[in-house]
Amino acid sequence: MEFTLRQEALVNSSWEAFNQNLPLFSVLFYTFILEKAPIAKNMFSVLKDANEIPLANPSINAHTEMVFEMVRDAAAQLQTTGQVVLGDTTLGVVHTQKRVDGLHFMVVKEALLKTIKEAVGDKWSEELSNAWEIAYDGLAVAIMKEMS
Ligand code: HEM
Repeated sequence: MEFTLRQEALVNSSWEAFNQNLPLFSVLFYTFILEKAPIAKNMFSVLKDANEIPLANPSINAHTEMVFEMVRDAAAQLQTTGQVVLGDTTLGVVHTQKRVDGLHFMVVKEALLKTIKEAVGDKWSEELSNAWEIAYDGLAVAIMKEMS
């Protein structure tokens, strides 16, 4: 099915809301991830020995920023070409080494959608959430294809 300009616009505008307060939404994103998958704590070097998710931690913020930016880029790709091509094919190796699996990708998707919901407040809609979900799924499949 076609990914419409409207869906791309929904992703872009909500990404802007998210990006307004990256440190806050980054902590929220990881809170949602660890609620569902406490085991993920051991995957991230900065979380491993910490009692709580460090606020404004550059490394945590960096992964959050990359995930949300790449989903946004995936939405743009879907709109223009109908498919998601991974710019950085080493992402497969990185996630394989960290023992990331399909379930983790589901957990991260759920956390991403909940974070976007918080970021946009009353602008949230089923349509907006679906647009993020489609873009995320396209990207996750592209990464998983590179994983051994
Ligand atoms: C690293 C993106 C999903 C765990 C990375 C990096 C990027 C990235 C760009 C940095 C790679 C590098 O250092 O060269 C993404 C995207 C995802 C995704 C776009 C989903 C579409 C996940 C999931 C998990 C995960 C589901 C596990 C819960 C990690 C870990 C690292 C990493 C542990 C290494 C960071 C560290 O050592 O602290 N990811 N990722 N990622 N990712 Fe992901």
